Amino acid sequence: MNLSILVLPGDGIGTEVTCEAVRVLHRVAEKWNHTLRLTEGLLGGVAIHKTGTPFPDQTERLALDADATLMGAVGLPEFDNAPPHLRPEKGLLGIRRALGVYANLRPVRAYQALLDASPLKNHLAEGTDFIIVRELTGGIYYGVPRGISGEGAGERAVNSMVYTRPEIERVARMAFRLAQNRRGKLTSVDKSNVLENSQLWRKVVIEISREFPDVALDHLLVDNCAMQLVLNPKRFDVILTENMFGDILSDEGAVLAGSIGMLPSASLGGRKPSGAWVGLYEPVHGSAPDIAGQNKANPLGAIGSAAALLEYSFGLKEEAAAVNSAVEAVLNSGRVTADLRPSGPPATTTQVGQAVCEAI
Ligand code: IPM
Ligand code: MG
Repeated sequence: MNLSILVLPGDGIGTEVTCEAVRVLHRVAEKWNHTLRLTEGLLGGVAIHKTGTPFPDQTERLALDADATLMGAVGLPEFDNAPPHLRPEKGLLGIRRALGVYANLRPVRAYQALLDASPLKNHLAEGTDFIIVRELTGGIYYGVPRGISGEGAGERAVNSMVYTRPEIERVARMAFRLAQNRRGKLTSVDKSNVLENSQLWRKVVIEISREFPDVALDHLLVDNCAMQLVLNPKRFDVILTENMFGDILSDEGAVLAGSIGMLPSASLGGRKPSGAWVGLYEPVHGSAPDIAGQNKANPLGAIGSAAALLEYSFGLKEEAAAVNSAVEAVLNSGRVTADLRPSGPPATTTQVGQAVCEAI
């Protein structure tokens, strides 16, 4: 198979972890006889430096042309006070929107080998296996009106949380279908005791649930969900939620997985004529400028994202499963980066990538 993939390393540790994910893709291509066609593009702070904008037109064209896009991370502290259109994060929001990837799948698993890496008691984290389906192209991240206006005591800032019925319907269907293929449980998370936006969300999710009688639906308010995630994470199978709630809850999921460096994600939009998903694949962690360039970032979130790319954008289930088993084998071997608190000396980013390749 020809795998034409756009790689956007981005900023900070994005470059290092993407390099290992690409190493793994080469190994898969070699073993299963696929042809990798990789192109590299600019996104985020590096794009601002080189082109003056976080999401250059060229990157948009490359992403629309590629079969799939693999991304590292964006964000650099030097842009912390930059105007909104000149922030690296704007590039990420731009590419998500341009590709129309409305559903962000963020699986969270507590691997046996990592139970001690989680600050939670082992019996709480053990057995955790859920997936967050985060709406990704709507809500408060994109709603208008938005902006800061006025001066002095009159200065004010506005953001709008906006959802239309079709936006809720499509991401809900995606989540219900996933639940059908898992343990048949879907928890929809909202703040419907306060927000009209969430009241519509809940109403539409209930309507869509009638199409999926084999899935058990329940609802949680987001504050309660944040608590249940650490009190009783095993109760969750599929969590469906809007953009910002999903952003926040998925970082909480990192505590269960042992490190945010472990979490992969797949952002899916419509289907291509071939039936494959339009997809953008990125680890959940950010650019971590404090450890960038030191070869110590955990590449497993990025590698897991590459596995998701093989599965969803190319239907290569066997290859994806092989990558995921290799990741598990490496975790069991203890050759892991410092964030996973290995008992011996920590492995480097490169060594972990190489170990995954050897295990494939
Ligand atoms: C994430 C990140 C991004 C988001 C940032 C970098 C814009 O936190 O993917 O979780 O908020 O979506
Ligand atoms: Mg986040």
